[in-house]
Amino acid sequence: MSHRLAVLVSGTGRHLENLASLAADPAADFDAEVGVVISNRPGVGALHHAARFDLRAEVLEGAEGETDEEYGRRVFDVIRDAGADTVVLAGFLKKLWIPDDFAGRVINIHPSLLPAFGGKGCYGMRVHRAVLERGCQVSGCTVHLVDEVYDNGPILLQRWCPVEATDSASDLAARVFDEELIALPEALRRFWSR
Ligand code: GRF
Repeated sequence: MSHRLAVLVSGTGRHLENLASLAADPAADFDAEVGVVISNRPGVGALHHAARFDLRAEVLEGAEGETDEEYGRRVFDVIRDAGADTVVLAGFLKKLWIPDDFAGRVINIHPSLLPAFGGKGCYGMRVHRAVLERGCQVSGCTVHLVDEVYDNGPILLQRWCPVEATDSASDLAARVFDEELIALPEALRRFWSR
């Protein structure tokens, strides 16, 4: 069965670009289309990728005084309207409340081997700097189901890579990201086939 993704973004959208490319490639063994892209920030790179692939894109910024649940209800109204069955947080940096009908169908990718280096405030380059400061010899990425706690839900797939003694945070980020590009589509394939 073909799947329909809602991809939630806040930044450059490299994962969105990858997923949209796979979805457009009949040889990619990726039986999905991107039904909607939702950004909580206007003007981000991800929205340019959405336009390039001619995808429906919506900007939903948080409003002053709005609760997580109120924001989440607005987001999931759009997701339902787009007919999406699976939600991917691909560099989405806002807390997302999840309604019961989407419990177990929201997937996040995080640039560390969870449960290490996760949780509130642990995102982007901060993760890689913390990994280097701790002297870790391996790092990697984790694709997991999202629950109500940051970076907490059941793990679908992890991929690891070495940390080199000479690494800067951006060196490590690039090596981890190479693994992320494999991990996210592979995790989705596994998720859909279980
Ligand atoms: C990735 O490192 C991912 O692990 C994290 O956000 C980054 C994705 O950024 N959640 P993007 O796809 O380039 O916006």
